[in-house]
This record gives sequence, structure tokens and C-alpha cells, in this order.
Amino acid sequence: MRAGLIAGNWKMNGSLQSVTELVEGIKAGDAGKAELAVCPPAVFLMKVGGMLADTDIALGAQNVCNRDAGAFTGEISAAMLKESGCRYAIVGHSERRSLYLESDQLVAARFEMAVKNGLAPILCVGETLYEHEQGVTEAVVAKQIDAVLDATGIAGFAQAVIAYEPVWAIGTGLVASPEKAQAVHAFIRGKLAASDSGIAQQVRILYGGSMNASNAADLLSQADIDGGLIGGASLKADDFLAIAQSV
Ligand code: PGA
Repeated sequence: MRAGLIAGNWKMNGSLQSVTELVEGIKAGDAGKAELAVCPPAVFLMKVGGMLADTDIALGAQNVCNRDAGAFTGEISAAMLKESGCRYAIVGHSERRSLYLESDQLVAARFEMAVKNGLAPILCVGETLYEHEQGVTEAVVAKQIDAVLDATGIAGFAQAVIAYEPVWAIGTGLVASPEKAQAVHAFIRGKLAASDSGIAQQVRILYGGSMNASNAADLLSQADIDGGLIGGASLKADDFLAIAQSV
């Protein structure tokens, strides 16, 4: 049985004060049976990690460098994230892929570095609107996963989480129908099962893209949707917890 995971991706939002209030609100509320994780902007990781020390809520980073250490201005290593209390690191978010031109290979190298350092990568995959309309969703997602399989083999997925995030659904209010999302999730699990059925059964596949308190229950009732990666709705404690309670 895969434990439901609800992860908040705060992106580049908040201030020291608002982040403090958000964490206090999440801590004070009831997440039901869900496991929770929050991914604050890197500059707030230590602060949020300190506030979460007496809870089961996990800390995650929004990215991780593909190199160990050295002259990589602006990057943060997996070891630094570990030391800052992170359990997770998002890799390959579509905003990184599209706005900062991260290739499948770079994303795979970031994933590999997370795994090597004992961080659980949350690998984001998903198709753009154009690709969606062309009907090539499975091919796009397969290529994104193949790049990681090339880098780490199936073993890399033993401690990973996958987030299927159709790019056209992110921050748009558009959401994939539960049935369509389920079909892609099942495709992803089937793809991993071709290499290792045990790992495929165990890996959590989250849905992301305009998930909110009103659509979460339908999405989460699908057999292969094991949680959510939440952007906008993770910035309000009540909304985030309402989604968690749908698990
Ligand atoms: P959204 O973002 O929930 O605001 O659509 C999801 C994400 O980008 O992870």
C-alpha cells in the first residue's frame, strides 16, 4: 500500500513572515492520513526546517545541483540540502525545463545526484499543451523517464517520487480529468514495471496541475494517483490541509 503524499511547491513566493505564518497554520491543522511535505524557496529552508523539527512534515527543495561542489554559481548541492534538513528535492519541474532550459539529460543528472546523496527526488514529467493536442503525451513522458533510467537505472526510482504534471494544467485552473490523469499514471507505472515490477508498485506517482480542495478527492480516488504536488493551493494552510484530507 502506497502512503498518500501531499507536497506543497511554494515556488518563488512568500516572505519570512508569510512563510512563518503558513508553517504555523499547517502545523496547527489536521492533515488526516496524508504524509505532508513542503518545498519552500531555498533561502527559507533552514527556517522552515527548524519549525518542522517536532513534526512529521517533510522538507523538500525545489531543485538540486547536478554537481558535487565547486564553481557553480547560484546552485545548491544535494549534500547542502541534506544538511539543511531536506528529505525531498523536486527535479525537472516544467518551469525549470521551459524557463531555464533544463534538458532531460540535465534533469536526469540532478536526479542522480539527489539519489546518490540520500535525497528522494520528486521527478516532474508532463506534456505541454501543444504536445497534448498532438496526442504525444505518452511519448513525451516516456522520453523524460528514459533519460533518468539511462542515468540511474531502475534502482534510482526505489527512493524516488514521480509527479505527473501536464504543463497546460499548471497554474491555469485547467485540470486533467481523473480518468485521463489515471491513464497517464498507469502508463508511467507500467513503464517502470517493464524494468522492475516491485519498484513500480512501490513508487508514488503524484498528480500536479491546478489541484485544489474541490477536485482533489476525485483525482486521489484513482488507483495510480498516490498524492499531489500542489502549487497555488499550497500557499494557504487551509487549502493545503483540505487537499491532504482528501487522501
Ligand atoms: P499549481 O502548480 O498547483 O499552481 O497548478 C503545480 C506545480 O507547478 O507543481
